[in-house]
Amino acid sequence: MTTLFKNIKELIQVRTEPIPFVSGKKMRELPTIKNAFLVIDNGLISDFGSMEDCPKTVFPEIIDATGKMILPSWCDSHTHIVYAGNREGEFVDRIKGLSYEAIAANGGGILNSAKKLQETSEEALYQQSKVRLDEVIQLGTGAIEIKSGYGLTLESELKMLRVIKRLKENSPIAIKATFLGAHAVPLEYKKNKDAYLKLLIDEVLPKIAEENLAEYIDVFCETGYFSVADTALILEAGKKYGLIPKIHVNQFTAIGGVQVGVKYHALSVDHLEEMRDEDIEILKNTNTMPVSLPSCSYFLSIPYTPARKMIDSGLPLALATDYNPGSTPSGNMNFVVSTACIKMKMTPEEAINAATINGAYAMGLNAKVGSITKGKLANLILTKPINSYGFIPYAFGTNQIEKVYLKGQEVS
Ligand code: NIG
Ligand code: FE
Repeated sequence: MTTLFKNIKELIQVRTEPIPFVSGKKMRELPTIKNAFLVIDNGLISDFGSMEDCPKTVFPEIIDATGKMILPSWCDSHTHIVYAGNREGEFVDRIKGLSYEAIAANGGGILNSAKKLQETSEEALYQQSKVRLDEVIQLGTGAIEIKSGYGLTLESELKMLRVIKRLKENSPIAIKATFLGAHAVPLEYKKNKDAYLKLLIDEVLPKIAEENLAEYIDVFCETGYFSVADTALILEAGKKYGLIPKIHVNQFTAIGGVQVGVKYHALSVDHLEEMRDEDIEILKNTNTMPVSLPSCSYFLSIPYTPARKMIDSGLPLALATDYNPGSTPSGNMNFVVSTACIKMKMTPEEAINAATINGAYAMGLNAKVGSITKGKLANLILTKPINSYGFIPYAFGTNQIEKVYLKGQEVS
């Protein structure tokens, strides 16, 4: 099946030569073609250019995009969309003055979600998660990473990862799975964290490897959760099974998480609300992508990642949602892009680069998605009629999407 999009007002994020990611000043450049055409063949981008060069051949399907723009789908490299139930109660507690940390200390937080998930069947968990996945696809996400980490037992961590596997098999979207057993210490291990780490390493990891359930490994490296030494231990264990690190660091405190990530060649280090100069310094000239989660900062009223300082010092940056029931009950990448511009002073060009090609890199999918490049998946956003792509972040809280396409097929 071949489709021609013609009269595209502006084709955004056009990369003739594939690139892994963009950093520093290059993030300000967003290559586009005005008055463009785009051809999709068998689910892949096969040709594009200026309307003057539009092929005259007969196409089985022609879509007139007059007044509308096309950009590659959002690449959301950090989510926890497989979870059971919600935590609106904690939301109200926070409104009344309790902190996220205080709620967690009282048995709420991650442990609250773990309890709910342990009591939920695999089928029910799949159904709840599928609704969220379908919802974010409609919001323009065309590739996504999903973590475990609300199971916290052998059985329930496997349950989560099997649900992710099933989502992968049944959805047209590109999905990557991450094992986050070290998300919180379960109550029964509170006085013996080492025994929990041992369970993860000796029992859970081998099962995950045996069933090939994850490609990445994550740790919540944070005061009160897992130390730098714990993180190193888990990453070392994951390495034996070929699991690549993508870790939660510097959300509330800077304790050396970025350093341990870089040491273990993490594909990404995520959150980064608290960044010291040495954390920025160590990331320079590495292959580790810093990932910012502005919706989490928004929802928890915590600092935003110092994007300006990081990009101005030459670093790349990716943007992701962190969609989860506790710190970010939203998977809307349009909101993330807006918030990055409004609160983190990123330009629309920087934010779109961060939410497409850099996000793709942060989940190892840059060869397949993240830009308009021949041979990449035709995962696309067709906008409503808009004047400029800057309108997408400007019009915060709304989305300017008319249609989304995955592998060239319109998703309805
Ligand atoms: O990325 N910070 C760690 N994990 C999640 C939130 C977990 C929760 O509150 O359920 C996050 O923000
Ligand atoms: Fe997270």
